[in-house]
Amino acid sequence: MFGKVKRNKDVIQQNISKKNKKELKAQKKWEQDEERIKGSKFRLLNEYMYTVNSVDALKHFKQHPEEFKIYHTGYAQQIEKWPESPVGNIIKLLKESEQFQNKKLVVADLGCGQGEIQEHFDKDKRLSKLITVKSFDLVAIKPYIIETDISNLPMDDCSCDVAIFSLSLMGVNYLDYLGEAFRVLKKNGYLIIAEVKSRMNNIDNFVNLITGMGMKILKRDEHNSHFVLFVFQKIMDICQFNGPLNQKRVYQILGQKDPNLKDWQSLGQQILQPCVYKKR
Ligand SMILES: C[S@@+](CC[C@H](N)C(=O)[O-])C[C@H]1O[C@@H](n2cnc3c(N)ncnc32)[C@H](O)[C@@H]1O
Repeated sequence: MFGKVKRNKDVIQQNISKKNKKELKAQKKWEQDEERIKGSKFRLLNEYMYTVNSVDALKHFKQHPEEFKIYHTGYAQQIEKWPESPVGNIIKLLKESEQFQNKKLVVADLGCGQGEIQEHFDKDKRLSKLITVKSFDLVAIKPYIIETDISNLPMDDCSCDVAIFSLSLMGVNYLDYLGEAFRVLKKNGYLIIAEVKSRMNNIDNFVNLITGMGMKILKRDEHNSHFVLFVFQKIMDICQFNGPLNQKRVYQILGQKDPNLKDWQSLGQQILQPCVYKKR
């Protein structure tokens, strides 16, 4: 009698385990599908930002701010897989390089994403007295981020010491972002750029583009597998960006004579290609 009760209990237990296993499997599949959908949405938004003018991207995210959060969750997951983060390297550079140490600096983080650079310096008692970071992006994820299109910055001419683009030269009009950085930088101010390696067929072309604007190159660090880190210094004593980087100059950089390549954006896209994903 006792043996029979025990057998029944075992059968019930086995059935519960089977049911639990099935439920767990279904739950796992649901979570995997959800991850896949989020991953696709991130890739879609990333590609979108690389292939439209920033004016359109700004309009889009103003209407769909929730998509910006999806984008940044996906972006953070991607960066976690990289051996080093561009923002981490830039923070280290600002803290450890001689040219930035113990100086009062106004830093503009252009396309700041989650605003990690400002967060880092603001919470450091000593450094926050020296370094004032202003963070700009299309959508303000944090209260201190200024919502703007960096192709048209709300900053005075020659008003900052360091301008940063960390993987943010995204829009097809990114040459305008560079023009704005040039405008707001003081003479001898620094331009720090981290850019995805695979966007550049020829890194020299990118360097020539920036030096052609009236900057000199101080650092070109290619040791990271995913991105290149550059430091430039503005040597021109003008604020208004009035033409050292013109169409003719970009043509020269590219060694181009193609008369069909007349517009600004196609020229820019030859130097920095958009990050687009292979169809799966
Ligand atoms: C790949 S994320 C990098 C974020 C951050 N700089 C980092 O390294 O973690 C690029 C960011 O640049 C911003 N961005 C691109 N074009 C912009 C524009 N025209 N105006 C403002 N932000 C822009 C995007 O919205 C996005 O948040």
